[in-house]
Amino acid sequence: MKKAYREMTREELLKEQAALEAKYQEVKAKGLKLDMSRGKPSKAQLDLANGMMDVLNSDSDMKCEAGVDCRNYGIMDGIPEARRLLADMSEVPEKNILIYGNSSLNVMFDTVARAMSMGVCGHTPWGKLDKVKFLCPVPGYDRHFGITEFFGIEMINVPLLETGPDMDLVEKLVSEDASIKGIWCVPKYSNPTGISYSDETVRRFAHLKPAAEDFRIFWDNAYSIHHLYDDDQDVILELLTECEKAGNPDMVYKFISTSKVSFPGSGIAAMAASEANLADARKAMFYQTIGHDKLNQLRHVRFFKDMDGVHAHMRKHAAILRPKFEAVLDTLERELGGLEIGSWVKPKGGYFIAFDSLEGCAKKIVARCKEAGVVMTGAGATFPYGKDPKDSNIRIAPSFPEPDELKMAAEIFVLSVKLVSIEKYLLEKEGVCC
Ligand SMILES: Cc1ncc(COP(=O)(O)O)c(C=O)c1O
Repeated sequence: MKKAYREMTREELLKEQAALEAKYQEVKAKGLKLDMSRGKPSKAQLDLANGMMDVLNSDSDMKCEAGVDCRNYGIMDGIPEARRLLADMSEVPEKNILIYGNSSLNVMFDTVARAMSMGVCGHTPWGKLDKVKFLCPVPGYDRHFGITEFFGIEMINVPLLETGPDMDLVEKLVSEDASIKGIWCVPKYSNPTGISYSDETVRRFAHLKPAAEDFRIFWDNAYSIHHLYDDDQDVILELLTECEKAGNPDMVYKFISTSKVSFPGSGIAAMAASEANLADARKAMFYQTIGHDKLNQLRHVRFFKDMDGVHAHMRKHAAILRPKFEAVLDTLERELGGLEIGSWVKPKGGYFIAFDSLEGCAKKIVARCKEAGVVMTGAGATFPYGKDPKDSNIRIAPSFPEPDELKMAAEIFVLSVKLVSIEKYLLEKEGVCC
């Protein structure tokens, strides 16, 4: 049984510090260059979809089911077979899906931009209002917060619990303040904590009574099929259906893409929403494009065929990702378990592990990692404006490094956590507040 650092005497801490510092200097001298910062698939994962490059060649029939030649203009909503595939992936009927281009983040940006300039379904454009606010469950996805910051939308932190956002707070805020126009959500295997929203949370979302009629839930289901285990998967309620049942069919925009299914940046993205919301989106799309990349849509459908094909493919991703997640989690447990200097949730899917250090330590831990050659996502990035009020959350992305690199990176991470935590306790013992 390990002794918690908090309970160690000053002498015990100094002894531990000296041993760890020697180890740290040894690793640092190796001049490593490791990266656990962004949730990118590894080369082995990308290779899984290489067959997509062979499903179309110069002899292929380039017509989609609708008889339209995919090499030419036309079919703004997406080819029927791609609509069906993405509708199935989004768990909505085909009439509720609109296919976009290569990235869901781009669709989210576009949706906020449209609300700013045109307004939502006939309401005053957000850009003409004195104040527009968004709720941001934290920790969350830095690029979501980047979009709202870019448009000058004020962001309000809402704690993300193990069941989803703190719904007491969400209900209170949206019902009292008409300037709150949206909330960012990653409902399944959330970025970065890996939690999935409970049924009660989803139902409470569907039953929200926002003061603003043009309030929308931005439901980014980026990790909807990204399970790590076959026999232990999270299932969440489908929000559009729940919103319809609750009499709020227009309250949600769902976003999805095949980025971490096929090729990030070269996948297909879609929005799922009520017919009224999709009609609103089409009004702008009509001027934006004559149609998205139908050849890519055709390639995806010919490669995956249907959701069975997609799920089989995702199991291959999981086989590569699972050992990487487990290597990091084992290192955290083995090295930090019992020391009471950090906490984390073991995710069952997605791309991230979120680590919460002692307060005031995250920035220093990330800096220590960097000094020893490991790049982590910047501390604070998981909060709006890059400001983590407790300076404790660190996002770990285990997908990209090769397995042996990842083990080394994880060792350097735990070493850094220990050293920074000891420094904090030593300062506290000396009566210096940090
Ligand atoms: C929650 C979340 N949404 C969206 C994205 C980006 O998706 P896309 O490549 O479709 O723009 C990511 C990528 O990390 C993500 O974590």
